[in-house]
Amino acid sequence: MFEFAYGLLFIIPAYTASGFAVLSGGRIAIDFNKKLHGKRILGDGKTVSGFLGGVFAGAAAGAFIGFVFVENPFNMDFYTGFIIALGAMSGDLTGSFIKRRLGYERGESVFLLDQLDFVAGALIFGYLVNILPSFGGIIFILILTPFLHLFANKIAYLWRLKKKPW
Ligand code: CTP
Ligand code: MG
Repeated sequence: MFEFAYGLLFIIPAYTASGFAVLSGGRIAIDFNKKLHGKRILGDGKTVSGFLGGVFAGAAAGAFIGFVFVENPFNMDFYTGFIIALGAMSGDLTGSFIKRRLGYERGESVFLLDQLDFVAGALIFGYLVNILPSFGGIIFILILTPFLHLFANKIAYLWRLKKKPW
């Protein structure tokens, strides 16, 4: 059971980043409106303030977890949260990059890519600094996240924070 809980603990900075990116999203697109072979590199859904807001909110979440759960297997703190959130926001950018290359417009849904790009980024960055949940924890995160993500986006849509309900 603990490995599932630790899996969740690991991914909280990534969820926080993903949620705060919606709240802090601004106008300046990370790709500066530039195109690659006629299609936007990333699109209007990826902004500088959304990226930075997400990363720092995720880092703050890491600091908070470290404060509340002093004994946690990742030694979670601001720095660890920062790395996980940076991975999440980079994974999110990579997901949008792939969507644009495949010809999907900003906001069009691609099942599993939309829900798991940021989780994959968080896991890869975690791996690089030697913090990862157990195998069971990772599987748990991968199964749970698509449901949580769709649920959270539905709420964000109802609260008019997001233009699309997915
Ligand atoms: N957001 C942002 N900057 C980021 C990531 C997200 O400003 N780096 C904000 C944008 O307002 C975006 C919203 O959070 O519309 C939701 O993010 P996401 O669903 O990933 O973006 P989409 O608009 O669906 O675009 P894409 O098709 O590229 O996924
Ligand atoms: Mg996305």
